[in-house]
Amino acid sequence: MMTETTTAEVKNVIKTGNEELDRRIGGIPVPSLMLIEGPSGSGKSVFVQQVCYGALSMGLRTHYFTTENTITSFLEQMESLNFTVMNPHYLSGALTVHSINAKAVEWTRELAHTSLDFMLMLTKELVERLKREVIIVDNISHFLVMADEFKILDFFTNLKDFVDEKKISVILTVHPHVLNKDLLVRVRSVCDGNIHFSIKDMGEQVIRVLKVMKMRGASKKIDSLIGFVVDPAFGLKILPISLAKA
Ligand SMILES: Nc1ncnc2c1ncn2[C@@H]1O[C@H](COP(=O)(O)OP(=O)(O)OP(=O)(O)O)[C@@H](O)[C@H]1O
Ligand SMILES: [Mg+2]
Repeated sequence: MMTETTTAEVKNVIKTGNEELDRRIGGIPVPSLMLIEGPSGSGKSVFVQQVCYGALSMGLRTHYFTTENTITSFLEQMESLNFTVMNPHYLSGALTVHSINAKAVEWTRELAHTSLDFMLMLTKELVERLKREVIIVDNISHFLVMADEFKILDFFTNLKDFVDEKKISVILTVHPHVLNKDLLVRVRSVCDGNIHFSIKDMGEQVIRVLKVMKMRGASKKIDSLIGFVVDPAFGLKILPISLAKA
């Protein structure tokens, strides 16, 4: 009984395995639909890779869709951050990876709509048949550029319903400029969590900043503004500075 309770508690939140980050944001609640926004190079991928590694380390079966890497380069990228996923997680099937060469495609409205349907269908299959508990999509931008607003909202709403029904976590990264402002506000409101990444020039050094805009289901008060650098030994290395006025 004691063990079951403990397991249930642990599985209510995905710990990233990065102690300082977990202490400051408390992990990613389960279930949740998370939207990770930020410009190119701001750290979205490194963050979701950190979450992926944390989820796997907790024993959660995880699927990673990448539009940025091949499967091989994704695994190399994880290893480059000291996230040792190849053995045992990838080889045991706990981590599955799907690469979509989105840049090579000439996107049309029809293709964008089909791709959103496909992504939703695949997510359902991955959860129902392959028992995935965490789905990461890095990144969804290409699928949204040419899609109609109603289709995008429909996609996020259906995904949110599925997340709640199956008690899983789905984490999507996006370049915010691919959506118009009003639509972005509506998409954020469907999501349980929203984190904004940015790059800040602090004079002597360039740092990256993550700002937790929303974290529904978080168990405690979280630190909403966190400065970090990307370090091959740590992944996200949290900086011990206050960014209250940054
Ligand atoms: N293994 C690594 N060692 C050192 N720096 C790294 C490593 N992996 C990534 N970085 C750096 O981390 C920073 C953030 O990269 P990241 O890929 O997370 O950005 P992003 O927000 O996903 O960008 P994009 O929208 O272009 O995909 C970049 O400057 C990148 O060079
Ligand atoms: Mg990226």
